[in-house]
Amino acid sequence: MRDGFVPVARASELSPGAMKWVALDRERVLIANVGGVFYGLLDSCGHRQAPLSKGTLDGHIIECPLHFAQFDVRTGKPLSGPVAADVPTYEVQVDGDTVYARRPPPRCEGRAQEKG
Ligand code: FES
Repeated sequence: MRDGFVPVARASELSPGAMKWVALDRERVLIANVGGVFYGLLDSCGHRQAPLSKGTLDGHIIECPLHFAQFDVRTGKPLSGPVAADVPTYEVQVDGDTVYARRPPPRCEGRAQEKG
């Protein structure tokens, strides 16, 4: 492991336009190759938790197999369909033929409460 990155796949098994799910931190994580750049996304649609890895990938747009919501696989942002929430993304690195992923460090939400 390197800085929390865990090997999850071989780059050579994911040609451009391909995606697969892997297990990471007890979650299903979708790894997608978009034009030679790899991205990671929680493999769960924000609408009814359908596995996005069973959907379709067209360029950087991934479409849910259940009700066809579309997300930007690079950012997890919804583009259309019955969902407003982002899909959580994972950080991905490639070294040689190994694809590594990690959950992003948690972001500090809001301000810490001040004393007094
Ligand atoms: S479960 Fe994905 S759009 Fe409904």
